[in-house]
Amino acid sequence: MTKTPTSRVDRLLGSMGYGSRAEMARMAKAGGILLDGADLTDVSRRIAVTPDLPSRMEIDGEPLDPVQGLVILLNKPLGMTCSHKEEGALVYDILPGRWRRRDPAISTIGRLDKQTSGLLLLTDDGDLLHRVISPKRHVAKVYRAGLARPLTGTEGALFASGELVLEGEDKPLAPAVLEVVSPTEALLTVTEGRYHQVRRMFAAVGNHVETLHRERLGGLTLPADLAPGQWRLLTPEEIALIFD
Ligand code: URA
Repeated sequence: MTKTPTSRVDRLLGSMGYGSRAEMARMAKAGGILLDGADLTDVSRRIAVTPDLPSRMEIDGEPLDPVQGLVILLNKPLGMTCSHKEEGALVYDILPGRWRRRDPAISTIGRLDKQTSGLLLLTDDGDLLHRVISPKRHVAKVYRAGLARPLTGTEGALFASGELVLEGEDKPLAPAVLEVVSPTEALLTVTEGRYHQVRRMFAAVGNHVETLHRERLGGLTLPADLAPGQWRLLTPEEIALIFD
């Protein structure tokens, strides 16, 4: 059985971005930290870091943020970049500000282009991140692409062939599945995550992607009630669906 980790309260809250040790000591003194309904005044106290802590601990009248191992499902809006440090609007701006200071840091699981919308996962769990993006796992990603020109009918066979080599690359793409929705709209399922892969695949057949939206990752589908810019935490059952 794995042992439940313990942590000093000030260290735990610091690693969750709430503030420095001195700030946590001040907050506790002012009655801002409750554990199981009682004032927690000694922030040097060690407590067990269990997943139920957010339901037992309050910080300034709010439930504690999720403890380490969180997985966030975001409906990425257009115009935001999947980067910690680029200029302009970043997907991290959507999350609570203190989450930028969490250690381990929260990162996107793979990336979507600035002008791609849809299902994006973020996590502080490095093992999970690597399992999802590992080429060995072949996690399927389903994209809905809006195209500038009508499909010719030959794209599906080429994408499925495992022989398409993208410009500037040597290694052919793994087979991908094209499902035609209308002459200028298609669903494309890929198992790799090469740079601008979907846009470059359609460029390789003389077309141009005008809109791109990720709908599914493994067995996890973007819920219809999650509007662009909205996010929520995934349950362990939903996380397992990624590898279905
Ligand atoms: N393929 C692309 O071209 N862009 C994305 O954002 C994702 C897949």
